[in-house]
Amino acid sequence: MDQVPLFLQRHNGVITGDDRIRLFRQKPVTIWLTGLSGAGKSTLAFALERELVALGHPCYVLDGDNIRHGLTSDLGFHRDDRRENIRRVAHVARLMNDAGLIVISALISPMHEDRVMAREIIGHERFVETYLSTSIAVCAQRDPRGLYAKARAGAIESFTGISAPYEVPVNPDLNIDTADTTVSVSMARLFAHLLDHYLIT
Ligand code: ADX
Repeated sequence: MDQVPLFLQRHNGVITGDDRIRLFRQKPVTIWLTGLSGAGKSTLAFALERELVALGHPCYVLDGDNIRHGLTSDLGFHRDDRRENIRRVAHVARLMNDAGLIVISALISPMHEDRVMAREIIGHERFVETYLSTSIAVCAQRDPRGLYAKARAGAIESFTGISAPYEVPVNPDLNIDTADTTVSVSMARLFAHLLDHYLIT
């Protein structure tokens, strides 16, 4: 965990985590979606968010592409920048979980040790590592924004899966290959996991 100056002190409010669980009828959790560009992270994240909100469950998507427009707009895609990207997003997820929200993050998060860091920042009991195992062949074929084609042509450097590594999660909590399932079936798998462990109905 990060070093904090000694003169900083924590202040606690009177609202407890249990108060928030009762208020929102849910235990806070971060569904951490990891996988290649084009694996379907954002699509799945927003589908799940829609379903949860329709049922009255406060939640929010932290999407890599969106967050890189603001909070992390100073970062690129080299090793240290990706790590810092993940560190910041993990801290935001933690704050949102502290506030009682369900968080769905959609970041490539290609390195094992960065995902371990995210789990430590957010808390083991609140972190659900979800690997979208869609193959690079399928992702490159989808290539909705032509990024794989550009990366292969050398126009984008350090592109995950082409010129930068993706370390496959060793023992993810959930594994979904979006090549052979529809968005609604994938979403239902995530929703069922939330229902079993985190939603209070
Ligand atoms: S991460 O590796 O730091 O977790 P993140 O999910 O925030 O990545 O951002 C990935 C998005 O940035 C991709 O969806 C893609 O649109 C864009 N992008 C631009 N350059 C790269 C690159 N070199 N590698 C991967 N994604 C890139």
